[in-house]
Amino acid sequence: MQTFVNLSCAALIFLFQVILLLLLLLPNLGFVNYTRVRRMVQQLGIIVVLTCLFSVLNYGVESSGGLSYNFYEKTCPQVENIIRDGLKPVFSSDITSPAALLRLMFHDCQVQGCDASILVDQDSEKNGSSEMTSTKNFAIRQRETISLLKSMVEVACPNQVSCADILIMAAREAVATSGGPRIEVPLGRRDSSSTPSYELANALLPPSTIGVEELLQIFVNKGMSVEESVAIMGSHTLGVTHCLNIKNRLYEGEEGPITGMEHGFEAFLRLSCPKNEESIMSKSRFVLNDPTALGFDNLYYINAMSGHGLLRIDAEMVMDSRTTNFVRRFGSDQEAFFQAFSSAFVKLSSYGVLVGKNGVIRKRCDVVD
Ligand code: HEM
Repeated sequence: MQTFVNLSCAALIFLFQVILLLLLLLPNLGFVNYTRVRRMVQQLGIIVVLTCLFSVLNYGVESSGGLSYNFYEKTCPQVENIIRDGLKPVFSSDITSPAALLRLMFHDCQVQGCDASILVDQDSEKNGSSEMTSTKNFAIRQRETISLLKSMVEVACPNQVSCADILIMAAREAVATSGGPRIEVPLGRRDSSSTPSYELANALLPPSTIGVEELLQIFVNKGMSVEESVAIMGSHTLGVTHCLNIKNRLYEGEEGPITGMEHGFEAFLRLSCPKNEESIMSKSRFVLNDPTALGFDNLYYINAMSGHGLLRIDAEMVMDSRTTNFVRRFGSDQEAFFQAFSSAFVKLSSYGVLVGKNGVIRKRCDVVD
């Protein structure tokens, strides 16, 4: 679209230059007032240049990778209010739902872009797999909330709003309602129309054991800076981690003895997540990601700096020379964290999305039509 606008403008400006040149070169025929015509053409030319400049600049502001900030202005102007109001009873009846919605968004976007593929249920008739059957999606919740919001949106604006956009708007509300920044997100994503891939989910969702190197690979590939990669991990200011995901670090660490964990905290974790516990118990027991697990704040970084990070990545980000300064800055300046988090959120939610004629607007979020 932007290329089209640029090319049309360039062609129009060129045309006006040719006309002006002809008027200058042609012999004065007497019966035509050339000075007046030339002035008119010049004035028209200036109007075209200014209009072109305005539309090119305006397009740049409104659009981000095929998405735009006013996408539903004409087709569903009330959509953001429907999502906000629809989420109020969910947030008040389940205080852990904001964390779940934010993680749901990451797990959708990480596998073939933010296309609501994580919401599709297994289809035994079509022999289809489902991303949810991947063990990496353990403890993913709140998929049904997106379906509920979709049915509300469909009543107001049938066939207009994608499940993928609803999921992003819900995650944005989750951050804002927990005390985090209110993030402006561009919209216009479309939903995947093919059966989601369980293998892809297995391959692309990061395990709980990753370090800084793998972290940067994941997010720098999505166009994020190192600062933004550190900021997006601040999502772990919300929610919980099940024992299943920290047992490896506590007892079977591939990387040898635990590094970067304060001894008292280590003892607390060993008590909370005993070594020889049945797998069923370690799937139900959990610890808080930070002491204010319901509030979106910068305590995740302060916590990590004091050796109270749960995952290997939390400790490594404090120690690695590429990331340590950002951890320190976000720990001492919440506003700086919020700013970097907001731009990281927009990048994560815009990466590899289906737009325009690609993908579909699903009628139901849990079924590929
Ligand atoms: C790329 C590195 C990441 C790794 C290795 C990672 C790993 C994990 C793990 C192991 C858990 C605990 C799950 C459980 O046991 O219930 C978790 C929870 C969580 N993650 Fe991540 N994560 C990463 C990035 C992200 C990103 C980018 C976001 C958001 C944009 C995110 C949001 C969350 C949230 C909100 C929770 C808490 C969920 C809840 O309480 O239900 N994570 N993550």
